[in-house]
Amino acid sequence: MTRIGFAQMEPRVGELERNLILLQDVLREAKQESVDVLVLPELANSGYAFENLEDAISCSESIPGGSYSKELLEYSSDGRLVVAGICERRNDSIFNSAGVFADGEHRATYRKAHLFNKEKMWFRPGAEEPPIIEYNGHVFGVMICWDWIFPEFARILALKGAHAILHPSNLVLQYCQNAMRTRCLENGVYAITANRTGTERGLAFSGGSQVVNPKGEVLLSATEEFVGIMHIDVDLSEADDKMLTPRNDRLKDRRPKLYRRIIESL
Ligand code: ACM
Repeated sequence: MTRIGFAQMEPRVGELERNLILLQDVLREAKQESVDVLVLPELANSGYAFENLEDAISCSESIPGGSYSKELLEYSSDGRLVVAGICERRNDSIFNSAGVFADGEHRATYRKAHLFNKEKMWFRPGAEEPPIIEYNGHVFGVMICWDWIFPEFARILALKGAHAILHPSNLVLQYCQNAMRTRCLENGVYAITANRTGTERGLAFSGGSQVVNPKGEVLLSATEEFVGIMHIDVDLSEADDKMLTPRNDRLKDRRPKLYRRIIESL
């Protein structure tokens, strides 16, 4: 069994020191609870509602050199996997990224490919497909928040062998939690969506972080206001079984030659 969980948090935009203390508190609790795989929200180091590009740049750090990343790296060194959303500075650009750390190593940086609303005003979109990370005999895929509305990403992760999708989020619309049940069912994977709570500059975040299984069932769900960690022990190898009936394999039954249209740009 693997103990998977999320931290639902309330970072504040621009309050980097306070956000780092929130991280330390959460990681201490996760250690005490022996969580193997922990997912934190999107932009957990910086907060979300920037006012302009300079504001966003002033909240950014390099991965894995920044102080938030270093804390995550250190936490992961005792045989743990952790992913957190980080406002990342790289060369002259900033990205809405997820840093992935396991066993004391920086294992991947995923840069959000599908930017939501005003994010397009400060972030550069990532240009690579979502990554997978192998850890303790299982495969973990990463995508960030708004990527949920593009089912291609969850499908790509399933095709790359992901048992679970790790999904740092800052959700403001009401659709994602339900949609992720479908992403899990259609791909036969687990998903851990770590959302944030609270309000920033008039923008209210919806909480409701959750763990969903490959049948699309919600195993764990936080309230809108919850702050802290929730976790559950699961058998991730259940995601190896893609059969829904004795004759229906969710991945092998696909008809990719009929789907060519979906890889064309409009
Ligand atoms: C979102 O992608 N933060 C909605």
